Amino acid sequence: MTADSYESAEKVMDQVEVLLCWRFPATLFTAAPRLRWVQSMGAGVEDILAAPELPRDITITRVVDQFGGPIAEYVFAELLARVRRLEALREAQRRRGWIDIESETLGGKTIGVAGLGSIGKEIVRKAQAFDMKVHGLSRTLEAASLVDQHFTPGSWPAFVSGLDFLVLTLPLTRETEGVVDLDILKAMPRQALLVNVGRGRLVVEPDLILALTTGEIAGAILDVFSEEPLPPDNSLWQLPGVTVTPHISGPSTVEGVGAFFLRNLERYLRGHGLMGIADRHRGY
Ligand code: GLV
Repeated sequence: MTADSYESAEKVMDQVEVLLCWRFPATLFTAAPRLRWVQSMGAGVEDILAAPELPRDITITRVVDQFGGPIAEYVFAELLARVRRLEALREAQRRRGWIDIESETLGGKTIGVAGLGSIGKEIVRKAQAFDMKVHGLSRTLEAASLVDQHFTPGSWPAFVSGLDFLVLTLPLTRETEGVVDLDILKAMPRQALLVNVGRGRLVVEPDLILALTTGEIAGAILDVFSEEPLPPDNSLWQLPGVTVTPHISGPSTVEGVGAFFLRNLERYLRGHGLMGIADRHRGY
């Protein structure tokens, strides 16, 4: 059964054992005595994990291994557009200007990827194809051998200090909320760019606005925000050097999420372990 409103979901919740959902109202969890498993349509499950209404014994799964390709393409589309000055070139074309313009390359630049799950790993792989130096930060050493230099969360200032680009792919957890604050932004080189494709609240937004305004960093490419949609009066819309996109870097497609869910449903029905189980303690 499907539901597209609070009211229609409320009517069927007492029968639901398996729930495939996105941005689901937590109060409805209390109306679901048979619920055993919640599959999110996305990668981030911070809202479901934070719902006190959801009984502890219910399994929560997130979509894994689906978003790395599109999100990595988003990151490199934006970075290439910046270093190859595509906006200035299009602007010159509009006025038939044959301009002399200096551009740079990604090759030789250093990118730091914070979060080395399936999304971060794909960004690392593509960065290496562009001959970039790749630094990574993650909680465990599992993916350390994939990057030129690996850092753990105790060494954020050292991690960001040598970067041209800092890319955030981290999940939002108690440990990661607000991890990029003014101190970290100041520790980045002044020519560096921040790219956030994780969650808006990884960054202390007023600190970011201050760092951009005072030139602590050169710019930001932001697909996620503390509040979404980004309110029209938020100054990020118009700050120089800032690109704002509406949370589109890794779209949940019917094909991708549907196929993932059906594979997981088959595992559920056969009693096999599910893919993408979220760990409440870890927070993702
Ligand atoms: C989208 O942001 C997701 O978590 O999949």
